[in-house]
Amino acid sequence: MEKTITVLPGDGIGPEVTEAAVKVLQTIAKRFNHTFNLHYELIGGAAIDDCENPLPEETIKQCSQSDAILLGAVGGPKWDQNPSHLRPEKGLLAIRKHFGLYANIRPVKAIPALLDSSPLKKEVAENVDLVIVRELTGGLYFSEPREKSHDHALDTLAYSRTEIERIVDTAFQIARSRRGKLASVDKANVLDTSKLWREIVEEKRQNYPDVELEHMLVDSTAMKMITQPSAFDVIVTENMFGDILSDEASVITGSLGMLPSASTREDGFGLYEPVHGSAPDIAGQNKANPAATILSAAMMLREAFQMETEAAAVEEAVFNVLNDGNFTGDLQVEGKRVLSTTEWTAKVLEELDSEFVSD
Ligand code: NAD
Ligand code: IPM
Ligand code: MN
Repeated sequence: MEKTITVLPGDGIGPEVTEAAVKVLQTIAKRFNHTFNLHYELIGGAAIDDCENPLPEETIKQCSQSDAILLGAVGGPKWDQNPSHLRPEKGLLAIRKHFGLYANIRPVKAIPALLDSSPLKKEVAENVDLVIVRELTGGLYFSEPREKSHDHALDTLAYSRTEIERIVDTAFQIARSRRGKLASVDKANVLDTSKLWREIVEEKRQNYPDVELEHMLVDSTAMKMITQPSAFDVIVTENMFGDILSDEASVITGSLGMLPSASTREDGFGLYEPVHGSAPDIAGQNKANPAATILSAAMMLREAFQMETEAAAVEEAVFNVLNDGNFTGDLQVEGKRVLSTTEWTAKVLEELDSEFVSD
């Protein structure tokens, strides 16, 4: 198959981790006789430096002519004092909104080889296999009005019925394809948006009698995520709650550097992006864990291109490299050798080659 992919490396560790994922995609293309046409474009701080726009027209144009988008990360201290329209994060929010990517799918799975890297007890972290379905184009991030003066600031939290219905349907469908359990997370004891959310989830549940539904408040969900994470299957929640819960969930796996995500819409077109940010503290040092971006590329193969075998090959290579005790610094445990980004990526590429030989 021939596919066009726009690569948006972004800032900080973004270029390092996307380079790793691109090498993996090129290896897959070679092995399975696909052609992946890669186009690099600017987003975030890199785009602000180039043309004072965190999401240039050229980037939008190239993305709209592509089958999928692969993103590294945006942001960094260099742009932290910029006015809000000139912040790197604005570019990421704008591209999600522009393409209507309302469904952010964030799988969190405990990997046996990494149980010692997790701060949680082994018996708590093992068997965790959950998916956070985060609403991505509404809520506090986008609602108007918004204003800020010296003595006053205003953000608005608004949700429409349509915005809630479509993400809730996505989550019920994902739950149905997994273990059939859905936790809808809100703050319905305080917020009206959450009350509407809950009403809509109650209406929708009639269409999914095979799914076991539970409503949970976000504060106690944050606690249960750490005390009993294996109790969750699918979690559906609004934009801000999903952002916070997913970074919390990442500690179960041992590192934020492990979590992939897909930001999509009904037709499967999407932005495949790690959950983590640009990690300015380790940027440019060849230390970043590229697994989250490589696994995001695997999600792209599966969800955007229906390449299940290819996606599974990538995931298997990542797990085998970890099982062999090859860790990046963020996963460091006593007695393990720490590999750089490029060394660890080379192991994944070797592993992919050996999977092919043994076919
Ligand atoms: P961060 O995710 O960048 O980093 C948090 C911590 O996790 C840091 O200690 C970092 O070193 C570590 N970390 C993250 N990814 C890692 C990886 N792949 N390998 C090893 N260690 C990793 O969050 P932050 O420090 O709060 O934010 C830094 C910048 O990133 C900010 O400008 C923020 O706005 C931006 N950000 C961007 C995205 C995105 O582009 N999707 C997501 C989150 C934050
Ligand atoms: C994420 C990030 C972004 C978000 C920021 C950088 C805008 O934290 O993708 O999780 O909050 O959505
Ligand atoms: Mn986040």
